[in-house]
Formats: sequence, C-alpha cells, structure tokens
Amino acid sequence: MRIRPRRNRANASVRGMVRETRLSLEQLVYPLFLLEDKQAVQPILSMPGISRFGLEKLMVEVDECMNSGVTNFILFPAVDEKHKDKYATYSLDASNFYLSAIRELKKRFPEAVFISDVAMDPYSSDGHDGLVIDGKIVNDETLPILSAMALAQAEAGFDIIGPSDMMDGRVGEIRDTLDDHGFVNVGIMSYTAKYASAFYGPFREALDSAPKSGDKKTYQMDYANRNEALREADLDEEEGADFLMVKPALCYLDVIRDLSNYSSLPIAAYNVSGEYAMLKAAAERGWIDYNKAMPEMLTSIARSGASVILTYFAKEYAQKFHSKF
Ligand code: PBG
Repeated sequence: MRIRPRRNRANASVRGMVRETRLSLEQLVYPLFLLEDKQAVQPILSMPGISRFGLEKLMVEVDECMNSGVTNFILFPAVDEKHKDKYATYSLDASNFYLSAIRELKKRFPEAVFISDVAMDPYSSDGHDGLVIDGKIVNDETLPILSAMALAQAEAGFDIIGPSDMMDGRVGEIRDTLDDHGFVNVGIMSYTAKYASAFYGPFREALDSAPKSGDKKTYQMDYANRNEALREADLDEEEGADFLMVKPALCYLDVIRDLSNYSSLPIAAYNVSGEYAMLKAAAERGWIDYNKAMPEMLTSIARSGASVILTYFAKEYAQKFHSKF
C-alpha cells in the first residue's frame, strides 16, 4: 500500500496542519432579542442560555460579546401585543424601542456590526411576514411597508438590513428606497432561501410572533426544493443583495453548498432556534457530549460553504473555544 490517508491523521499537529475548515469568530453573528422595558431580562425556556433583554441589560450582553471577540449581531424586537396592528405601523415609528435601541447601541459600540430584521411578523396582529387581506398574504401591497421599515432602520443606524419576509421583489424595492435616500452604503443580507421550517418554533415563542392563522408556506420555501434556491439567488443578486442567506442551516447543508458554488456573493447560514434547542436538550439529558457536538455543528456549516454563520452558540463558542482571544 503506497497511499495511506491515515498518515495525515497521525497526531494533533499533523491534523491541525491539514485541517481544511477553520472557524473564526469574525464570521459569527449573534442573534439578540430586545424587550421594551429597559431593565428587563426574560430567559427563553426552550433556548437555555438565551434571554430577551431590555436595552440596559442588552448593553451588558453586547459588551461581554465584544470582549469575547464576537462583534456581529442581529437584533429582533419582542413587541407587546398592544403595539401590534394589521399594517405593522409601530415598526415605522422612529421613537419605538427597537429603533431607539439601535441609536444607543451604535453610539456605544460604533465598531460592532448590527443587522436588522425586516418582516411584518413581530409587529403584525396577524403574525405573518406580509400584509394579510381576506386571509391571503398579499405580496405587492407588502413591499412599500417593508421598504419603509428598512429605511427607518437605516436612518436609525443599522449597518445591514435583513429582510426575512420572503416576499417577491423586496430586495430590489429596499435597495432602491435606501439609495434614493442616500443610504448607498447600508448593505442587504437577504434571506434568500428561507424554508417553511418546524425549526423556528422556539424563536416564535421568544417573539410571540407565531401566525394567528394558517402557516407560512405560501411565501417560505418548500423544504423539498433545492433548485428553487438557485432561482431565488438569481433574483436577489440581480436586485442588489450583498449576502445570500440559507435558513435553517443544519438540514440544508446541501443548499448552502449549492449557493456557495453558484454565486460569488458571501453566503450566510442561519443556525436557527430549533437547531440550538435540540442540542441543548440532548446535552441536558446527558445524551450527547455538548462541548464536542457544538463545534462540530458549526464547522459543518462553514465546511458546506457558509462564510457567515448566524448562531445562538456564538457567545458560548467564543468563550469556550477561543479563550486565548
Ligand atoms: C420571521 C423570522 C423567523 C426567524 C427569523 N425571522 C421565524 C419565522 O419565519 O417564523 C427564525 C429564527 C430562528 O428560529 O432562530 N421574520
């Protein structure tokens, strides 16, 4: 036998030398849930280790992340029912707690990156990402609402806009609106291939944003489809997206690989709430070695082609595995 692959696995140094994928903290994005009450902290039961924070507490959380080497964040508002209506009007109010918070956060942490969430569901009395008329989620009537939301977020200081709604044509509409108002340097991280997934369950609990009726299958993608992700990628590229996102991540590593082969844009993958909850639950029962499984999961997402990983593990990963940072 002349060829023996085991030679390159002989010890830790050799394995380190030939390792093909290295995770770096720079590629991680940590999702944060914001509450209106500035002093509040509410742990999310189905996501051990993750809480919803009021701004004062969130500042502490961001500070800890920055000190651990995590510098990128995506921010979601947990909006009280009393602010919700059919048109997600509250999302456009420049004095709402979400837009007020980003002004403070950018002042305190100018070097951090903050990504927004554009979709109607956190603010909508119908709990859908688009406008509901006669029981249908209407596309074109939703676009002006989304682009106004994106503009309000850019004005408040978000670095990157994150449309998570899956309406057709929204990336182009948002790009035009941002450009018309001079925000040519505010980027768009598009949720390009966002699947109608059961793995969003804990997130909807965190934001109390589950649809009041029906499901999201007329706008989020069918999990059986792969080529359709390329079609969405074509559109988002043409419409001016700066990042293409696949969501969820772990059941969709093939789609991440397809998009990274197909497009020259950076590919982001959202390792979602249910994926986090599954591993935490198995770890709590002692059914899996958490400290080994967690980096294996994150590395698999990077190996499949994601250059950016949005993950609830980000802070813990940084603190446990990059302690020398
Ligand atoms: C909705 C949105 C969802 C997530 C991010 N933005 C849930 C949904 O589509 O219902 C899920 C994130 C997660 O599960 O971690 N605009």
